[in-house]
This record gives sequence, C-alpha cells and structure tokens, in this order.
Amino acid sequence: MTVPAAPDAPLLRIDALTKSFGGFVALNDVSVQVRKGERFGLIGPNGSGKTTLVHCISGALRPNKGAVIFGGEDVTPLPPNQRSRRGIARSFQIPRPFRSMTVLENLMVALDFAAGRETLESTAHRREAAMSILARIGLAAKAESPTATLTQVELRKMELARAMATGPKLLISDEAMAGLSTSEVDEVLDLLMSLGGDDIAIIMIEHIMQAVMRFSQRVMCLDAGRIIAIGPPAEVMANARVQEAYLGT
Ligand SMILES: Nc1ncnc2c1ncn2[C@@H]1O[C@H](COP(=O)(O)OP(=O)(O)O)[C@@H](O)[C@H]1O
Ligand SMILES: [Mg+2]
Repeated sequence: MTVPAAPDAPLLRIDALTKSFGGFVALNDVSVQVRKGERFGLIGPNGSGKTTLVHCISGALRPNKGAVIFGGEDVTPLPPNQRSRRGIARSFQIPRPFRSMTVLENLMVALDFAAGRETLESTAHRREAAMSILARIGLAAKAESPTATLTQVELRKMELARAMATGPKLLISDEAMAGLSTSEVDEVLDLLMSLGGDDIAIIMIEHIMQAVMRFSQRVMCLDAGRIIAIGPPAEVMANARVQEAYLGT
C-alpha cells in the first residue's frame, strides 16, 4: 500500500535489514535513512556487505528480515523493474551497452525501457530527451559515435547517462570509478556531484577515500555486515573502529 510521504520523510528507509547466504550473515540488522537529494557515501572493507545492501535496495536480492521503504512505500516485495519505475536506479544494473549502436541509440533504448513498451512519445521527442541527458553528462559530442569506440571513462559516463534515462530519485553508483586514472576519477566525481542535488539522492560506493570525502554529506561504514560508523565524512574517517576495519587488527 502506498502511503503519501510526509514532507520531511526520508526518501529511503532501510529498516532492520538482514540478509544471509546459507549460514553466512552478509547484512546484520542494518537500519539507515537517506534523505531526498542527499549525497551519501558507503564504505567498508571488501566483503563487508556493501553490494549486498545495494542489491537489497535495487531488488536484485530479497532480505531475510527487514524492509526497504522508498518514498513512503514498502518496496520490499517488488522486483527490480518496478523499483526502477519508482525511481531507484543502479548504474550497473541496466544491461551492458549494445556495442554496435551509437551512444545516442543506446540511450534511446534506455529511455524506451524507462517508459515501458507502450510509449506514446515520438522518436523525435525521445531523441531530444536523449540528447539533453547526453549534454548533462558531457557526452553530447559522442552522440553519433559507436559505443565500441568509447574510452573507459566515456563508458562509465554512458552508464550514468543510461541510469539517468530512468528518471531516478535515487542513483546508486557501486565502484563506478574502479580502474580510472586520478584525473578521470575527478571527472566522474564532478559529474556525480552535478547530478545529485534537489531531486536526486546518490549513494556512492567507492574505495578511493579522497573521492568519498569530497563527495559525501554523510558517510556510513559497514564491517562484517554491520554499521560501525555513520556521520560527517571527517568524523567517520577519524573513527577508530573504521581505521581498524581498514587496517586489520
Ligand atoms: N550470492 C552470494 N552467495 C553467497 N555469498 C555471497 C553472495 N553475495 C555475497 N556473498 C558474500 O557476502 C559477503 C558480502 O559481500 P558483498 O556485499 O559483495 O561485499 P562488498 O560489496 O562490501 O565487498 C561476502 O563475504 C560475500 O562473499
Ligand atoms: Mg561490492
């Protein structure tokens, strides 16, 4: 049932989420709220449960216990496509780009997916919408290029463009900067910061701490499936348990 969200209600509410694989508890009683337009950093050592949490939010995984509330609605029973329609986008969840298509064509496919099959919009209108997203992402000059000719950083940008095509209220970026050079990391970071804001909250998972520090209004650190720290970036980074989790004991 959809309950109209109060003006100050969080965009996303994770309620006592637990996810196990066999006997192994990957997420252990995790509760957190993300507000509308928030830039939220998610950190933690390898295997701490970050991607599992993302999967529970996107719908790729069902939790054993707990709930995911989005815009006041309990979306826990919904499959990924229905969560996508409600505004949850994950940069790597959407199918890989079609290499033989141009950047523009790829984005038009993503727009079709977002609209559902029975779109009444004309091709010209979709083309315009796709071009406006490409301009926002800084890929307008590559619109007619085949996807196969894009560089690594351009491909990451196209992934973000495809996520943007779904009209998200929450964009989740799971290690979108892995393997990029320092200047490319800055480029993608600037882009993510420009996309976030009034209407789009972003959860960014990243190993590059400088990037997390610069990006995040709040940071949450997971260790062995539990929240060990949450708060302003500098505070979380200075937390003894966080430092211990990263350095090992
Ligand atoms: N489908 C799965 N089946 C079994 N174990 C899994 C599965 N997915 C994740 N895990 C385990 O859950 C733990 C958390 O994984 P993950 O959420 O991917 O961590 P992170 O993204 O923080 O590196 C890891 O120990 C991982 O091996
Ligand atoms: Mg991961």
